[in-house]
Amino acid sequence: MYSQPENSGISKGGRPLSHAEDTGSRRDFLYVATATTGAVAVGAAVWPLVDQMNPSADVQALSSIEIDIDGIEPGTQITKKWRGKPVFIRRRTAEEIAESRNTPLADLPDQTSQNDNKFETDASDENRTLDEAGEWLVMIGVCTHLGCIPIGDGAGDFGGWFCPCHGSHYDAAGRIRKGPAPLNLLVPTSEFLSDTVIKLG
Ligand code: FES
Repeated sequence: MYSQPENSGISKGGRPLSHAEDTGSRRDFLYVATATTGAVAVGAAVWPLVDQMNPSADVQALSSIEIDIDGIEPGTQITKKWRGKPVFIRRRTAEEIAESRNTPLADLPDQTSQNDNKFETDASDENRTLDEAGEWLVMIGVCTHLGCIPIGDGAGDFGGWFCPCHGSHYDAAGRIRKGPAPLNLLVPTSEFLSDTVIKLG
């Protein structure tokens, strides 16, 4: 059955609309039409953003990686790229472990572990390393000051890493000891899959 359009200039009872009624009715129609068009436009703008937020297959594949650590000798380290950042994997010497474990917490500018595997723990060496013995240290290799990549292999005043950009010194546990960097080097989500394979992410 035919129903009278709201903006036809005719009342529902068949009476011609007054000018005020007619204008109001048209205004309503224009408002509804504009709002509807706006909703479509917003929907069209949001979709690509939502679509972009869905990680592509290659990004998902990079969200975790496995690293073969067989062959890394004590006192050496390797660097792997993960999620666009360098990751340091160091096998520490007995001296580095002892020095790091004997450092009082009170000497550390950042007293939190900054370890994604151990939330809300202090920065004692035991909370920084991947294994209980403290031989393996895994860290994001990005200075916590402004993002330079620190130099490793015992560099700096504390036998760990040194960032030459503005002079930040990290110790052998990757903890900030001197300079403008506010935080210890970050320890990412990581675990041993076997004696010779570490998984990041
Ligand atoms: S970026 Fe490392 S000290 Fe500034």
